[in-house]
Amino acid sequence: MMLAKLAIKLRTMQLYYHFCHNFARGPVFMQDHAAFNEFYDEATDDYDAVIENAMVKEGDEVVCPKMQLKSIYGRIKELKCVDAESDKVLFEQGLMLEKELCTYIEDVKQSGVSLGCETLIGDVAARSEVRQYKIGQRIR
Ligand SMILES: [Fe+2]
Repeated sequence: MMLAKLAIKLRTMQLYYHFCHNFARGPVFMQDHAAFNEFYDEATDDYDAVIENAMVKEGDEVVCPKMQLKSIYGRIKELKCVDAESDKVLFEQGLMLEKELCTYIEDVKQSGVSLGCETLIGDVAARSEVRQYKIGQRIR
């Protein structure tokens, strides 16, 4: 179920970034609002591609909404969203999620996946690396 778990991580990030898109505040509101929009759009596409691949490799049961939502809720409630002191906190948490994502993608790759799957998750990691750079520029 490693791909299903990866899809859940991406859905969690998609929701997290969408919440951040609306909770962004402060002098650079427009830039932060737009950056979070870009991030959740990428997470939406990546979630879709990964969950479809998970269905193929791990079976139809991976799409079970209850199973997905339980994991997503568990992770989201550990994060600061509405109560974050500043947008910097939102980006710092985003960076943490991105790093977790890339570490997990390494684990999935090590487990031995098909070439198609390796390409797909490699692309997901590549987009995460760019987001990490963008976030890094914002929080330094
Ligand atoms: Fe919006």
